[in-house]
Amino acid sequence: MREVMTMREPAHLQDLIATRLSRRRVLGGLGGLPFLSLAGACAHDIAPALGGAGRSVAFSSVPPTRADRVTVPAGYEARTLIAWGDPLFDTAQEPLDLNRLDRAGQELRFGTHNDMLALFPASHAFPAGRSATRQILCVNHEYFEPASAFPAAHSLREFDADRTAALFAALGVSIVAIRQDPSSRIWVVKRDARPGAGVNRRITPFTPVVFSGPATGHPWVAAAGAKFNAAESGAPAGTIPCGTLANCAGGQTPWGTYLTSEENFQFIFAASDAAAEPLVRVREDAALAADAASFGYALDRVRPALPAPAQYDLSDNPTGPALYGWVVEIDPYDPTSVPRKRTAIGRKKGENAATALTRDGRLAVYQGDDQVDEFVYKFVTAGRFDPTDRGANMDLLDRGVLHAARCDVDGTGEWIAITLEAANAAAAGAGVVKPFSDEGDLMVRVRQAARLLGATPMDRPEDVEAIIDETWVGSGTVLIPCTKNPAPRPPRPASPDREGAGEGGGAQRNFAGHLVRIEEDDGDCGAGRFRWDIFLVGGDPAASKPMGATPAGQPLNRSVTVDGAPTFRGAPIAAPDNLCFDRARNVWITTDGSDEVFGDCNDMVLVTTTAPTDAPREVRRFLVGPVGCEVSGPTFSPDERTFFASIQHPGEADLSGRAYSVERWREGARPPSSFPDGGTAWPRSAVIYVVRQDGGVIGA
Ligand code: FEO
Ligand code: CA
Ligand code: CA
Ligand code: CA
Repeated sequence: MREVMTMREPAHLQDLIATRLSRRRVLGGLGGLPFLSLAGACAHDIAPALGGAGRSVAFSSVPPTRADRVTVPAGYEARTLIAWGDPLFDTAQEPLDLNRLDRAGQELRFGTHNDMLALFPASHAFPAGRSATRQILCVNHEYFEPASAFPAAHSLREFDADRTAALFAALGVSIVAIRQDPSSRIWVVKRDARPGAGVNRRITPFTPVVFSGPATGHPWVAAAGAKFNAAESGAPAGTIPCGTLANCAGGQTPWGTYLTSEENFQFIFAASDAAAEPLVRVREDAALAADAASFGYALDRVRPALPAPAQYDLSDNPTGPALYGWVVEIDPYDPTSVPRKRTAIGRKKGENAATALTRDGRLAVYQGDDQVDEFVYKFVTAGRFDPTDRGANMDLLDRGVLHAARCDVDGTGEWIAITLEAANAAAAGAGVVKPFSDEGDLMVRVRQAARLLGATPMDRPEDVEAIIDETWVGSGTVLIPCTKNPAPRPPRPASPDREGAGEGGGAQRNFAGHLVRIEEDDGDCGAGRFRWDIFLVGGDPAASKPMGATPAGQPLNRSVTVDGAPTFRGAPIAAPDNLCFDRARNVWITTDGSDEVFGDCNDMVLVTTTAPTDAPREVRRFLVGPVGCEVSGPTFSPDERTFFASIQHPGEADLSGRAYSVERWREGARPPSSFPDGGTAWPRSAVIYVVRQDGGVIGA
């Protein structure tokens, strides 16, 4: 999702400290901290079996392009695996007609706006093998845009309740068996005869789920759950048919389950009647009002754009948003398993849920809360992973300690434990926040607790990823892409001041984004402290002067330097979002909204090394997506000979940046993309994959 609510927060104490200290200390300038020589920090790093530590990529950067296709380097080819509406079951009616989609039909088909991708071997094994041509692909479906649906419609008035329910059913998760022909290297979807006949599955906002962990019985959850059960009859006892939605990125566990993060859930909620009694009653609840302000759903907004299912109407179900913002665990091997919302990990606009084992065998879950001035979190389970007994791990995520990151000006940091006692002591001290009544209330309102406890606000932290080895043990290296912050803010820890503007600690904008690196103490993902630095500052290394302009005419600082030294060379980078690592210690970065910063290229995939380097690391452009898309969900096949990614919302904006949601309803308007089908086809979000023509390892 390109834009999120940009809530302005009061200046943090850290900001005030930061502005009083030298820029170099605030930035932890590159080369100024010993840990950037990572030689000693990676004893547990990815095994270098496929090319040795620090092998850089061997292809030449793809030139910038605004072509309406997937562009890859010479010697590579990109193909489409599956797109919105493609059938997962033989029972889906053929051919696909996007104008006739209804809820029942969509529930048999691949959803829209796909984001996170995760591969599981057809049979669970730990550790997983490398040469698997049969995989289970789990895919998130993040949101829908009415303008990209029902091609024959002339206005939103034609979106009745049935059509709106079809759009809801296009959200959630798709689970799809895929296999590769070893000689042609072509991957195909293996359809099932019907739901339940194999692993293929759709999980939608209507699917029954179980809440587990401390917030299960929270009053907001209970009240909203009753409304959902009344609206969707027949859900098994103990479940709530609220499924999952706003699924952005996520993660995988070593026991072979899929984690999906619920991010911008506020987009789905609106109130049809601002004077409705249930809504009037809860408006008195200061905690709920604070929740609405924090997440950006409006308890007084009337006239929702579409006739949403009744349970999503805040007028009747004002605590409905409490059912979202969680990490949801799904067993992809069992199509009858009930997804579980793991409330011990806390409620936020979770971008992702990356996992790494600690030295002593517990699981750390890293998560960015993708909103301006929100935080980075780490949950550490109380129990240890048992590699010999899959079932014994299934509820590990219900117990543990959630932490938020505080980055200090000296380049060190602490994982602040978010406990009831500490949060209530801080709340009492601040005198402005209703006390947290129990652990469940703490997890429902965890953003407030993290802020009270001094977590460091960030520039929209996205897909926080940890480097792990083949036995899932983290090396302690964690990268945090901060995608952007268009609002003026002072320099502060983990959010760099930029060269050429805002000198003297003045407010500045961060359009291009940056990456923060964390090194856990002792290389242990269970550590309570870490060191941090700026890994890379987004911008254009070839820019002759720092200041330029975005295509929309906003002043753009494109300098990539910290303390006068460039943080990288090569291809420009802006709006980093998702990350994945290969075994040669390169990080692959997808962008979301780069075209709003540099107008010469669509969103893309870039790659650079995480290995120690004396010179500025080189960034190369591996892939450019079609017009108006974001690229997300990067992942590799186990043999690293296939690269998969999501092409989300092709045609959402045209080459001049105009949103198709506005253009759509003008007479004769055509979408600015026809990806992936080409010609005059309607654009559809899709999963693509890239192989080398010679069958080699990607990037080698
Ligand atoms: Fe859905 Fe944070 O990108
Ligand atoms: Ca997205
Ligand atoms: Ca994202
Ligand atoms: Ca994003």
